[in-house]
Amino acid sequence: MYLGIDLGTSSVKMLLLSPDSSVLGESRSPLTVQRPKMLYSEQNPEDWWQATKQAILQLSPKLRKGVTHIGLTGQMHGAVLLDRESKSLRPAMLWDDGRAVCECAEIAKQVPDHQAITANLIMPGFTAPKVLWVKKHEPAIFQKTARVLLPKDYLRYLLTGTFATDMSDASGTSWLNISKRSWSPKMLSACGLSEKQMPELFEGPDLTGTLLPNVANALGLSKKALVIAGGSDNATSGLSVGCLFEGTAFLSLGTSGVLFTAKDTAQSLPQEGIHTYCHAVPGKWHQMSVHLSSASCFSFLEKIFSTSIDALLEEATTPTDHSTIFLPYLSGERTPHNDPYAKGVFFGLSNKTTRGDLVQSVMEGTAFACKNGQDALLRAGAKMGVIHLLGGGVKSRSWLNVIASVLQKPLYIHKQAHFGAAYGAAKLARFSALGGSLEEAFPQGSSYEALRPNQKHQTYYQKKEALFNALYPALKDLFSERRIEGWTKET
Ligand code: XUL
Repeated sequence: MYLGIDLGTSSVKMLLLSPDSSVLGESRSPLTVQRPKMLYSEQNPEDWWQATKQAILQLSPKLRKGVTHIGLTGQMHGAVLLDRESKSLRPAMLWDDGRAVCECAEIAKQVPDHQAITANLIMPGFTAPKVLWVKKHEPAIFQKTARVLLPKDYLRYLLTGTFATDMSDASGTSWLNISKRSWSPKMLSACGLSEKQMPELFEGPDLTGTLLPNVANALGLSKKALVIAGGSDNATSGLSVGCLFEGTAFLSLGTSGVLFTAKDTAQSLPQEGIHTYCHAVPGKWHQMSVHLSSASCFSFLEKIFSTSIDALLEEATTPTDHSTIFLPYLSGERTPHNDPYAKGVFFGLSNKTTRGDLVQSVMEGTAFACKNGQDALLRAGAKMGVIHLLGGGVKSRSWLNVIASVLQKPLYIHKQAHFGAAYGAAKLARFSALGGSLEEAFPQGSSYEALRPNQKHQTYYQKKEALFNALYPALKDLFSERRIEGWTKET
């Protein structure tokens, strides 16, 4: 049996697959994010480990004993710094941490051909600028840093004692040569690091180790269980719906929103913040637009209204009778603005505005952000057929209807959509064990429901999208001026 472990941002999720690809079990254990200062976003690696153990122990003893292969996946870009004894030196800085803005510019200046090497812009959430930030602001910690790991690879170290990563997750560090699929000594040295401090690189299906006997005993797993390299949460989500051949696409609605298309080459167009990364299988790449706040905007609403999201969605007004616009930049934005200082905005409020209007505007604003991503990808030459839907957000049907109408694309909802990344990691583990063709191992699946764009609301959405698109350019300078006057004091 094949266990997929997804170290997400809001929870660790697991899914167990049988050799004939039926789902035998699922489990989940929650996580919280600490935001001690403006632009900071951190989690304690020890909390990941506790949540992982809890989620494994939720599976029945019989199922646990039968696991032969484990596929790891998880949130990208996090910086886990370990000392010589492999102890974590500080909380991990996460993918939506925006503090390392100056460091991006410094690395870019030091390595003028960084785009040719990494195929991407260097953005504040990526691992390299965050580690350079530690070098500058916490030199004692940097001095002690013997190794840098990505989040899921820290779990691998605790499970197996090995230091390894896979190409798709390594792509998000800004230290990988994306076309050669190897570490770039030049990019590493720009951050004062060397290859010795990096985990060994593997392709997703490769074996990286066996469980440590004491870990296997404590968790009721077999001592013979093998851990494969795995992939980033986005790459394995792609595998879960057969999105690995050029032209296939999915939209993931998790804490972040990601519109992903598979590629046969590493050809990139970094402008507008499009990410071009290795896929989790050899010889394949992918491109994606990344929106830092997606389903998390609804958690934000839940928090400020102290009302459950299901109840709030019931209150949403129809897409014809309100003028409110929401900019969903609660953690800044990557695609297309590459601006960690951008902030969330409700615009167009009046005496008539209701709570339902605000909910409706959040559904629309997050959809328009995805549309910005779709437009940027299409300008970069991406091909997109139907779009598969993944992530926790797939449970909110009214939101999905808005997204389908805004993107003007049919959206396919799969049965295991809310477990996308863990499902893909389990499939990758199965592929590692059984082999076969990529087409057979990662089918697009047939058990899905299609949501179609609603033509009735097209004019309304087009008008609102135009206003949405005008707002960020109008506010951009204000976001960064506010940073200079006020926020820097807090940081
Ligand atoms: C991708 C990204 C997020 C995280 C969290 O670049 O930052 O999608 O992987 O899920």
